[in-house]
Amino acid sequence: MRIVMVGSGYVGLVSGACFADFGHEVVCVDKAVEKIEALRQGVIPIFEPGLDQLVENNVKAGRLSFSTELAGPVSEADVVFIAVGTPSRRGDGHADLGYVHAAAEEIARAVSGFTVVVTKSTVPVGTGDEVERIIRETNPEADVAVVSNPEFLREGAAIEDFKRPDRIVVGLSDERARPVMTEVYRPLYLNQSPLLFTSRRTSELIKYAANAFLAMKITFINEVADLCEKVGADIQDVSRGIGLDGRIGSKFLHAGPGYGGSCFPKDTLALAKTAQDYDSPVRLIETTIAINDSRKRAMGRKVIAAVGGEVRGKKVAVFGLTFKPNTDDMRDSPAIAIVQALKDAGAIVSGYDPEGMGNARQMMEIEFAGSPYEAATDAHVAVLVTEWNAFRALDLDRLKSLMASPVLVDLRNVYRAHEVEAHGFAYHSIGKG
Ligand code: UDX
Repeated sequence: MRIVMVGSGYVGLVSGACFADFGHEVVCVDKAVEKIEALRQGVIPIFEPGLDQLVENNVKAGRLSFSTELAGPVSEADVVFIAVGTPSRRGDGHADLGYVHAAAEEIARAVSGFTVVVTKSTVPVGTGDEVERIIRETNPEADVAVVSNPEFLREGAAIEDFKRPDRIVVGLSDERARPVMTEVYRPLYLNQSPLLFTSRRTSELIKYAANAFLAMKITFINEVADLCEKVGADIQDVSRGIGLDGRIGSKFLHAGPGYGGSCFPKDTLALAKTAQDYDSPVRLIETTIAINDSRKRAMGRKVIAAVGGEVRGKKVAVFGLTFKPNTDDMRDSPAIAIVQALKDAGAIVSGYDPEGMGNARQMMEIEFAGSPYEAATDAHVAVLVTEWNAFRALDLDRLKSLMASPVLVDLRNVYRAHEVEAHGFAYHSIGKG
């Protein structure tokens, strides 16, 4: 299959590289000239484990190439994926479809012969209809089938998730697209990943419903964690105890500082807005959003409480700035709100992150340290915000000797109280009464 990926961001680049690895011929297109130039030199714009090797191998094999020009590759393509960004629109929280619509128009002008146009970007229900309308209006001659095929990969585990998905969802209205999409995903399909065909609108909603459900699951366990602290229970045992029930499942039950990232905050908000527009509000999701927002700042207050309620003029070390480990992505990271709350209270914040410091520098004004130990030097409290492996086996004796007072606030429950306390620390975690 000849595939064009319009948009070479997270989803576009990972999907494009993986499709090439399946044996398809893939062109990844992006308007950002510097990005395409860099990719051609083998420089990957994001940190994602394994992606550089995957790109290099497939470029060498002649199956993967990069272009700033959409028209040429699209005219020769069997399948064109739209994988451009759908950020939250300023002001109202709806998904901004400007890039999707612009891509549809450009594709319409370039297609030749029957072409399947697939929306991979996360888009509100009805966007497929709109993409089809735009294509037909722009070019009445265009022979296209417009398909919805949401992507469920997680950052930091993107390649593994793409190659071993729990399911592939394909929403279509034109039956001619079915054999084409089956061919595109043949290696996964042969590998027993269920390929679920639905209507286009259903497929669009599946993506939002999945993300909203996961965000809700995390928020649920976070609230139960707060309750654990009050009643003297242990959230990790509660998670295990409920997660072993197959109906609940053990994943996404880790209590923490609240969810962040490029998807959950934006997608929950967009779903809530769509639901309001259709006069069918999703109150559980509206509440989830509100709880998660307030939780992030509450984590700042938790840190302040750990040093006796006054942090003015005191140094706070923050371990981990990205919204999760194994990524350099800072989008909607809980660290942003936590750092802000600490600074508002007069703290001097020193942060360290294994991969996220470049992006963090654009988003917050704090001291950036070269290691967790440098961040902790003279600090009154250290806060573990992101569970990078590098923070799982800290030299606690060394840390204690460097700090002004040995207090560790572990927002990811990486450590055990008795271990840390044995090294002379005051230890605070999540959901342990
Ligand atoms: C998510 C979805 O998992 C993925 O299917 C979708 O395609 C994009 O959005 P991602 O944002 O990359 O992926 O990361 P994920 O691992 O889902 O974590 C999201 C946030 O939830 C992180 O801030 C993480 O720390 C938090 N989280 C996750 C928890 O606090 N507890 C958990 O148990 C799981």
